[in-house]
Amino acid sequence: MANKVTTAIFPVAGMGTRFLPATKSVPKEIMTLVDRPLIQYAIDEARAAGITEFIFVTSRGKGALEDYFDLAPNLEEELRRKGKKDLLEVLEATNMDSGAIAYIRQHKALGLGHAVWCARRLIGDQPFAVILPDDVISAEKPCLQQMVEAYEETGGNMVAAMEVAPERTSSYGILDVEREDGNLLDIKGMVEKPRAEESPSNLAVIGRYILSPSVLRNLDEMKQGAGGEIQLTDAIAAELDQGRKVYGYRFAGQRFDCGSKSGFLQATVAYGLARPELRDDLAAYLKDIVPNLA
Ligand code: G1P
Repeated sequence: MANKVTTAIFPVAGMGTRFLPATKSVPKEIMTLVDRPLIQYAIDEARAAGITEFIFVTSRGKGALEDYFDLAPNLEEELRRKGKKDLLEVLEATNMDSGAIAYIRQHKALGLGHAVWCARRLIGDQPFAVILPDDVISAEKPCLQQMVEAYEETGGNMVAAMEVAPERTSSYGILDVEREDGNLLDIKGMVEKPRAEESPSNLAVIGRYILSPSVLRNLDEMKQGAGGEIQLTDAIAAELDQGRKVYGYRFAGQRFDCGSKSGFLQATVAYGLARPELRDDLAAYLKDIVPNLA
């Protein structure tokens, strides 16, 4: 049986240029879907999967992220004084046990693989998860939990997988599938951002990974891949050459690309409609405007 996965890495060093000017002073991961920042969705999903140690790979200007997971004594005192128990409860989800969260800086933007590698000294010899907070996944059973359950049977390495339109392969890591068994894909190759005509499939890697520590050793080589960046996809693909297993997991749920404005807006609507206190108003508004849309 595979070792338990208790640590997750959250690469949050990106500049978020697609969301300028907002990201001039607000980290992208603090941008809110309804009333919770993107990072809160990622943390909640990790906790549901049994993660107890959280590693953030950050960069300059991400201080708001550290503050977000800190206690806010003045605010809490004020809410207590006013008897606002419901709001105090809302804040509880942002509390972390002391020492459960670590921040490592990625000093140079050399790619996702490099960001994950920056956390190597905190990982040791255990499997670990990676969550990309831009990929928000709405699911009855949270995506990483689905994967952890599957991983307990398979071990190896596992990445979340989803079909994308064939012309979109150049935005993703793409899987070369040997065999399918229900939700589980036995992988024989992986390519980062291939052009449609060179793509081995249209099954894309989505930002949830369970990885063996040997992936970090592969990253030691600092090989540049697609776009001149050090790619996580390449370090996982190297596992195959070294005789270790890589699985794709077709998760149940809907993924929103919150790294794009359009995906973020779609997620806002979907998460708004999922909230009982907002649903009626928002649905009435949408019904009102939809017939008039060209
Ligand atoms: C990253 C990964 C890519 C993966 C994608 C999922 O790309 O490199 O393999 O498919 O996340 O969102 P990015 O979107 O950071 O360019």
